[in-house]
Amino acid sequence: MSQKIKKILNKKNKEKIVSLTAYSKNIAKILDNYCDIVLVGDSLANVLYGMKNTHKIKLDTIILHAISVKQGIKKSLMVVDMPKGTYSTPKLAIKNAKLIFKKTGCDAVKIESNNKNSKVIKEIKKAKIPVMGHIGYTPQFKGRFRVEGKEKRELNKLIKEALLIEKAGAFSIVLECITPNAAKIISKLLKIPTIGIGSSKYCDGQILVTDDVLGLSGFYPKFVKKYINMNSLIEKTVKKYSKDVKTRKFPTNKNFLYGK
Ligand code: KIV
Repeated sequence: MSQKIKKILNKKNKEKIVSLTAYSKNIAKILDNYCDIVLVGDSLANVLYGMKNTHKIKLDTIILHAISVKQGIKKSLMVVDMPKGTYSTPKLAIKNAKLIFKKTGCDAVKIESNNKNSKVIKEIKKAKIPVMGHIGYTPQFKGRFRVEGKEKRELNKLIKEALLIEKAGAFSIVLECITPNAAKIISKLLKIPTIGIGSSKYCDGQILVTDDVLGLSGFYPKFVKKYINMNSLIEKTVKKYSKDVKTRKFPTNKNFLYGK
């Protein structure tokens, strides 16, 4: 087991795990100073490419972004999402996880759960690639957004799934949009850390999409804390630049590369 993975495991019940998404080098470089885990999430399908869901993002596209992210990472654990359809059988999963690992130099892959892929996790782990699980609202498999775990039957299903994923060998698990009660029970039951998104303070760590935190994406559900409105900052900057060009305030002689 790598030192980076050990470090994440050791935080359980001691220190909260900080995680955000990155899709490119410059952002990754900033996150690397403050995050334990940086995820190249398939959310880039919606956030960057304007797709209506994550279903059609290609493996090659995620790999390209991960190669860029890797250039900004020194100390945090870099996890890459496996896109929908790239891990539908154990054989395919191993082939693609190895490809992601080799091409990007990441530390782990993440796969969403559809209640059937604990075998896939086991096989990727056997191939010596650390895997992060993901349960609750899993956008690759669920169309409609809803909070899970309100009813007993669904709560039990989530608990069972989380335990199966741990048993299969995942080193941590994302809990997306499940009830505080479900997050509390699962975080207590599992030995591996739980990383929550929209799943309350009871998780061992938290993850958010960086563009949401920065106020860039225009997506502000209750579970997101928007720390800054980058959209408005960028707009103000671009407006100023546009005015400067039109009024001939930019470039000035100071900006000339040669001569006067
Ligand atoms: O793709 C993603 O960004 C994710 C996080 C929201 C957990 O899976």
